Amino acid sequence: MGITKTGFGTAPDGQSVELYTLTNDNGVVLSVMTYGAIVTTLQVPDRDGALGDVVLGFDSLEDYIRDTPYFGAACGRYANRIAKATFTLDEVTYKLAANDGDNSLHGGLIGLDKVVWQAEETESDDSVAVSFRYTSPDGDEGYPGNLDIEMVYELTNDDGFRITYTAATDQATPINLTNHSYFNLAGAGTGDILSHVLRLTADRYTPVDDTLIPTSELLPVAGTPLDFTTPAAIGARIADVPGGYDHNFVLPMVDDGELALVAEVSEATSGRVMEVFTTEPGIQLYTGNFLDGSHLGKVGIAYQQHYGFCLETQHFPDSPNQPTFPSTILRPGEVYEQVTEYRFGTV
Ligand code: GLA
Repeated sequence: MGITKTGFGTAPDGQSVELYTLTNDNGVVLSVMTYGAIVTTLQVPDRDGALGDVVLGFDSLEDYIRDTPYFGAACGRYANRIAKATFTLDEVTYKLAANDGDNSLHGGLIGLDKVVWQAEETESDDSVAVSFRYTSPDGDEGYPGNLDIEMVYELTNDDGFRITYTAATDQATPINLTNHSYFNLAGAGTGDILSHVLRLTADRYTPVDDTLIPTSELLPVAGTPLDFTTPAAIGARIADVPGGYDHNFVLPMVDDGELALVAEVSEATSGRVMEVFTTEPGIQLYTGNFLDGSHLGKVGIAYQQHYGFCLETQHFPDSPNQPTFPSTILRPGEVYEQVTEYRFGTV
């Protein structure tokens, strides 16, 4: 078990960027950098014990700065979309940066994926970790309040990659943090993920309009291509989903805030399996629909459509404008907490 730290270049604002590489007792390797708290590599064994990198990404910091579809990034202050880039809270209307048509996506123009985080290494008996801290100032991208955020990225000896998010504010503000890793359990760049088999515990989803904003309904997945309550290949019914999967699923909350197993994905050739545990009420399944070969990923491989899938644990999109959805408002004196773990194994 151990952690190494190396320089990874310079951010656009002149700050130096560090890359931390965490290794657990089983040889699993997780690399994360301080720019965007981005996961750059995650090497896990296949059924024969051979390590493979299961997350999409780039070789250099410059590539991440130039143009990335949020590969491996921390998303916030509000992951996913806020309609018309505006919301009203305690009778004050706030205007956010619009960066997805008229909507705000993943925190705006300079979200948490594009700032340099302060990092500190920690180690316990059964894990190695990096703790990232950042204070998003009052008015940042239009959001109210100084928001102090801590995210602990932990690699456990059970081959779990666990992220524990906490935050506190000095003014009421919406918050919704997630990680935008694109996975391919056969190995990043080896092909598409359509034959990966997915099980999702969600029995409902939040349908969206043509700008991907929820209509407020919670509809059953039964009888639709969104039903993964019985394991199914991601590609089996994708032709019936215009554009591919980009949907928020409503998770059955056991107890509010309790860590629950919500998804399992397996890939037959490698034998790799990933389980997803979260405290969150929602999960976005995104199948890399917008990847089109224009991003040259690690070792120069062009990432084509569906080369990766994301399972973004989250609160529902546009909650600040949707009174019937679970609240995403954090008030002074409260502590925001979200825990998500991606745990790896083989069959
Ligand atoms: C999320 C969104 C998608 C897309 C990707 C980034 O998954 O739901 O619509 O914006 O991020 O490309």
